[in-house]
Amino acid sequence: MKHLINTKDFDIKTVEHIFEKAKLFKDTGYPNLLSDRLIITIFFENSTRTKSSFEIAAKRLGASVVSLDVSSSSSSKGETLFDTAANLDAMEPDAIIVRHKDAGASKILSNYINCPMINAGDGAHAHPTQALLDLFTIKEYFKEVKGKKIAIVGDIKNSRVANSNIELLSRFGLEVILVAPPHFMPSTKNFRQTYSIKEIIDEVDIIMSLRTQTERHNNLIYASLKDYARDFCITKELIGEREILLMHPGPVHRNVDIDDKMLQDRRCKVLEQVKNGLFVRMAVLDTLINQNSELS
Ligand code: NCD
Repeated sequence: MKHLINTKDFDIKTVEHIFEKAKLFKDTGYPNLLSDRLIITIFFENSTRTKSSFEIAAKRLGASVVSLDVSSSSSSKGETLFDTAANLDAMEPDAIIVRHKDAGASKILSNYINCPMINAGDGAHAHPTQALLDLFTIKEYFKEVKGKKIAIVGDIKNSRVANSNIELLSRFGLEVILVAPPHFMPSTKNFRQTYSIKEIIDEVDIIMSLRTQTERHNNLIYASLKDYARDFCITKELIGEREILLMHPGPVHRNVDIDDKMLQDRRCKVLEQVKNGLFVRMAVLDTLINQNSELS
């Protein structure tokens, strides 16, 4: 059984097939590839975009979706993750989509189920479909992505989006530069690192801004978000006339991560990312559920 727990689960060929399919859905529409299929979504952590994106993607392909309300599910009554998984599996769904606050939760669950499991974000570990839709958005814009430089800016250490993007984008030949204050910088030494956006602004093709993951900080790290914004907010002033693609996985902290003016700028792709997310997730669902031949 093939699952999508992190980006490494898909080799380059599979990713390219998924992108071709997503592009086809985007340009020409989508048939009922998942009619008579049942998909369960179970989100142990809040989500606006990802949950609705998966559910809309599944419904557009004709699947039925059962969305488990975790606050009323048995996990709040003390049921273990293992038992939750076994019970869901007994209902014979065609796929289960999980978000959990703990890194590794979806991997553990995938060991006990007989259908594809898709990780919709686990702690600070991975968020594979976000990285896929980000790369799809970059590829649509640049066509050839090899050698392009991307600055990932912000709370990298606590971000599953950063983790998944760093793995996937570097595998596709992009040069990743990490821009963060020391306490948000991961310990990896495999990528160029800097504390100053100004230092790299003239050489990057893409900026991926990240949300400060305040819910994952044990203590307040910056004196205030305003202080953080002074150094790391992506402003119109900073970007100037440069042809830089600006991305963010959402939710955006306005005027902390990106300022109002840049959010309205044509170079800002935040809503395009959301739109592409639907098509990429449709392609992922079809590939995993129908176990298409491109899977290796
Ligand atoms: C991200 C997430 O939840 O991991 N958002 C998303 O899925 N679009 C990023 C975040 O919460 O900052």
